[in-house]
Amino acid sequence: MNSILLDTLNNKKTSRPPVWFMRQAGRILPSYQKLKKKYSFSQLMNDPKLASEVTLLPIRDLGVDAAILFSDILIVPEALGMGLEFTEKGPVFDNPLTKYKNPSDSLIKDSSKLSHVYNNIDKIIEVRDVNTPLIGFCGGPLTTFCFMFRGHVRDVTFNDAIKFLYSNPVESKKIIDSLVETSIEYAVNQVKHGIDCFQLFETYAGLIPVDMYKEIMLPASKKILNAVKDLNIPTIFFPKNFGNGLQYISKDICDYVSIDWHTNLFHARDIVNKEVGIQGNIDPRLLYSDYSNIENYLSKLIPFGSENQDWIINLGHGFLPDIDHKKAKFVVEWIKENDWKR
Ligand code: CP3
Repeated sequence: MNSILLDTLNNKKTSRPPVWFMRQAGRILPSYQKLKKKYSFSQLMNDPKLASEVTLLPIRDLGVDAAILFSDILIVPEALGMGLEFTEKGPVFDNPLTKYKNPSDSLIKDSSKLSHVYNNIDKIIEVRDVNTPLIGFCGGPLTTFCFMFRGHVRDVTFNDAIKFLYSNPVESKKIIDSLVETSIEYAVNQVKHGIDCFQLFETYAGLIPVDMYKEIMLPASKKILNAVKDLNIPTIFFPKNFGNGLQYISKDICDYVSIDWHTNLFHARDIVNKEVGIQGNIDPRLLYSDYSNIENYLSKLIPFGSENQDWIINLGHGFLPDIDHKKAKFVVEWIKENDWKR
């Protein structure tokens, strides 16, 4: 495969940094919104033809250097029997773990609930351009754990989950263990079906102290990432709001670490182990500002890109739903057309 993303991941020199965006599949593209008028999110995810189409839309509409699988991180708890529904207001579980005294007893794995994703990967690989790499993913242990306790869709405090983590450490460990086991099976099967790269989305890493994340969650994240790496697929870890915890990210955890928008890129490069590459970290709100501001922001990235070959350009979190996709396209074109002084 002739891919600037894979070349970068394989330590080859390239003339510019590769670029893709978190939450690029779905959400902002008019072509996706058109499909959403006809089909529900679940329909789009469960039909290989539609799921592969949505996965590949950003390649055509934005010109990004990689596709990310159109799916969701909540598929894993669904496969543990939690009954997931994507409503107008967002995802809802039939059986949130707040319902149970010993929630781990309620988690019973049904691997068949994951098989539609593997069919989607097969289809994507069949229809994609041969030079389009496919990124697979799953949710990080803390982020997934948090959603499993969420009773109300609009609640993003995750107070119930965090309270449970502090008050029931033994039972919490059992839940994390079953998440890790299912996530490994899921990630390994994504690799077997042909993904080229894997990202672990740990969006809510910042909800607990760095030291607590390091002790309880990082070993769990590492197990999932290592299962993929053992099959020779490069791994990216996105621990959002991990702050100084970035100093604990080493090559035995992941190949690349994705930096959130709050952290300075040069500072991140300083504290992350030198063997680990950096992804990130454009502020998603930049895409609300005008073209000259966007250009100004991007120009300031040139010195970093000139010095660092092991850098993948991405956002510091996903696209916001109400941005103008033309601005995202402009960012990609600007990155492709500029001289990165390498
Ligand atoms: O990056 C991509 O575009 C690939 C697909 C993808 C989706 N969700 C599709 C989706 C990925 C990687 C995710 C990850 C995800 N899902 C995360 C971690 C990353 C992050 O953004 O923080 C989280 C926390 C979720 C959980 C989730 N799924 C929520 C809170 C929601 C509702 C709000 C929202 O994001 O739109 C979803 C639904 C969801 N997942 C949609 C899409 C395209 C919207 C469904 C729709 O179009 O109706």
